[in-house]
Amino acid sequence: MSENQKKDSYKIAWLPGDGIGIEVLEAAKIVLDRVNLNAEYIHGDIGWEFWRTEGDALPQRTIELLKNVDAAMFGAITSKPVKLAEEELIPELRGKGLVYRSPIVRMRQMFDLYICLRPCKSYPGNPLNYKENIDLVVFRENTEDLYSGVEFNPVPEELSETLRKISKPFSAFSSLSLGEYAISCKINTKKGSEKIIRAAFDYAKKFNRKKVTIVHKANVVRASDGLFLDVAKEVSKDYPEIIFDEANVDAMTMWLLKNPYNYDVLVAPNLYGDIISDLCAQMVGGLGFGCSGNIGEDLAVFEPTHGSAPKYAGLYKVNPIATILAAKMMLEWLGETEKAVLIEKATARVISEGKARTYDMGGNSTTLEIATEIANKI
Ligand code: NAI
Ligand code: MG
Repeated sequence: MSENQKKDSYKIAWLPGDGIGIEVLEAAKIVLDRVNLNAEYIHGDIGWEFWRTEGDALPQRTIELLKNVDAAMFGAITSKPVKLAEEELIPELRGKGLVYRSPIVRMRQMFDLYICLRPCKSYPGNPLNYKENIDLVVFRENTEDLYSGVEFNPVPEELSETLRKISKPFSAFSSLSLGEYAISCKINTKKGSEKIIRAAFDYAKKFNRKKVTIVHKANVVRASDGLFLDVAKEVSKDYPEIIFDEANVDAMTMWLLKNPYNYDVLVAPNLYGDIISDLCAQMVGGLGFGCSGNIGEDLAVFEPTHGSAPKYAGLYKVNPIATILAAKMMLEWLGETEKAVLIEKATARVISEGKARTYDMGGNSTTLEIATEIANKI
């Protein structure tokens, strides 16, 4: 993860997307404006409307924008299954073989945003906390593993033939005909594993964290998770001051609930990281508090982890704190640590005072009221 130096001014891509993505980004802007970041916020088109009318949820002009900014803030997008997506295209675009692809997954792969960083911290006084004083940081590998996109249904004849020849356990499936099974490849590279594991250890070192736990299932998924674990053991040798810990993902879900204080920084391949980070986010307040950074060497995209919540779209009822904390993460990544601290402290005060709360926290404040309360405490 690159160590960014502060700059005199920044260019930030501003990607509200769909539904409540628009509202929560509006809220984050109120808070960012209060810390006087010298930034040009440049709007970028992304989301369902651009799929429907242009056949592309991440238009080329947005990709060009992302090539020329210091960082991006992203709200949320609506996505629908491939078949439904095709039916919603404007008539001129139908029947052209256009296939809906998730713009987030594309951004991650296109810009090699290999880190998904998800800090999960319980702020005192949040009625949604599972326990007080939780402070976990999840590093999820963001481009490979089961999300590599190498999938087959139906399985091509030549692949099936090869598997039959080289793989003994596969013989149980060899009597099935081609349409009767599907294959999704879990691909973990040494390079990709090393990059995310090193990022986790570097973070632990920088922020005086004591322990890094490698989450895997290497006792069963021996090849790919075995590789991930082997790489982790090697990398950990460069960080003797940090405790190396490892655990199977299934056991991890129980232990995390039983004693979250046993853990500190967690690092996992893509799928396990996705699951574990949702679990950790729920322990500190759920969707209104889950923030994440998709981070690469040259670009980072910060977002709340929730989606576009269509049923709340336009009502300005949802909790903007996840997005405000994502903006705080962006400031940290840009090297603007003091401004990040200001935002976090003000957010913590609003949570602990408990006067302004959105519906999920048991209150009836609006999205922008919360943002204004936070801004007023800066
Ligand atoms: P969702 O995260 O949009 O919302 C689920 C429910 O969680 C909402 O109905 C609401 O009750 C609650 N919620 C979400 N954000 C909240 C907030 N800030 N404050 C308070 N409550 C909040 O997930 P859902 O309904 O499964 O998906 C809706 C759309 O969003 C789908 O099209 C889905 O594909 C997309 N999606 C997009 C994501 C992204 O852009 N990163 C991530 C997840 C889903
Ligand atoms: Mg998820």
